[in-house]
Amino acid sequence: MNGSWKLIRNYIRNINFIRNVYVALIAFLSFMYDYKRFLAYGGWQDNMNDVKLRNYKQVMYYHTLEKSFSFKKRKPNWGWEKVSNLLNLLNIAKQSGSIGYHDKASKQILEKFIELPENINLEQSQRLKKELEQFDFNSNDIHGAMEYSLSDFNKGQLDKPEDFFLTRYSLREFKEQIVEDEIIHRAVRLAMKTPSVCNRQAWHIYHTGNSDVKNRVLDYQHGNKPFGKNIPNLLVVTTDLKAFFSSPERYQHWIDGGLLSMSLMYAFHSLGIATCALNWSQSPKNDKLLRKAVNIKPNHTIIMIIAIGYPNENNKVCISARRPFKEIYSTLEKR
Ligand SMILES: Cc1cc2nc3c(=O)[nH]c(=O)nc-3n(C[C@H](O)[C@H](O)[C@H](O)COP(=O)(O)O)c2cc1C
Repeated sequence: MNGSWKLIRNYIRNINFIRNVYVALIAFLSFMYDYKRFLAYGGWQDNMNDVKLRNYKQVMYYHTLEKSFSFKKRKPNWGWEKVSNLLNLLNIAKQSGSIGYHDKASKQILEKFIELPENINLEQSQRLKKELEQFDFNSNDIHGAMEYSLSDFNKGQLDKPEDFFLTRYSLREFKEQIVEDEIIHRAVRLAMKTPSVCNRQAWHIYHTGNSDVKNRVLDYQHGNKPFGKNIPNLLVVTTDLKAFFSSPERYQHWIDGGLLSMSLMYAFHSLGIATCALNWSQSPKNDKLLRKAVNIKPNHTIIMIIAIGYPNENNKVCISARRPFKEIYSTLEKR
């Protein structure tokens, strides 16, 4: 009896060992998949002839400058290095012959930089002004820094925030009605106010209301059974790897994409549209298969899928009770 118990125990140990090795190996291959994508599509390659990549760099530089405009005590002499980087990128854009949003924004920020009291009388500002005159385009938007009063700030306060936050539930069954583009666009615009690292806004949202395309996406998603077939509209939230320039930023696309996703869900909630996040915690194989099945750019990392639709008059949802507050909150101070 003793001998056979030992055999069984050893057998279980071996099975556990094999399982653990298998899990570790699959994890390694999955990390390698992410690493390969970072190598293939990440912005680290610094190819400034790639318009998208150049634009992410530009926004990073001009945002750093506009950030400095917003400080009450701005460090004089600060920013000339960013100015020179921006100017280089503007010259590359001019040579390429295609001027876009970020080129115009860059130019405006540089003009405002010259106008700063500490810069206006500098010789290098005059030189910069001359250089900027060769760019015959202007931004329609206003960039830089602005006044923002307490009363503007207070407009964001809700009388009863609980009525907004605590009434959002994941809905998995919706009305049989496609959500109109107008509403979707409005929600996306609202969600675009989401903060992102250096304001890079590396998001891209794919949308479909077409049931064939939707089913192709959901075929590869684990977590939409049995309700997937009746979802009216789907969004695939992605982030562009090109926007992230170095290894410390290797996870930034997940973070920025996650933030946008939550904003989208709240934006839809504010417009009376229900949502359910659908995870894309997927194997490399499924990630590749989905990319073959639908039109997702290879440099876009899929963050999650969001099902959207109109709620029914009567709905049933999971309570999904939240953990005790104390389990997720503590102070940083050492005791
Ligand atoms: C990133 C993410 C992925 C999710 N994936 C799925 C999924 O695949 N299928 C599903 O039915 N619900 C999914 N959910 C919904 C969660 O189950 C739900 O948000 C959670 O239970 C809390 O409930 P509530 O959203 O109603 O507050 C997901 C949620 C998040 C944030």
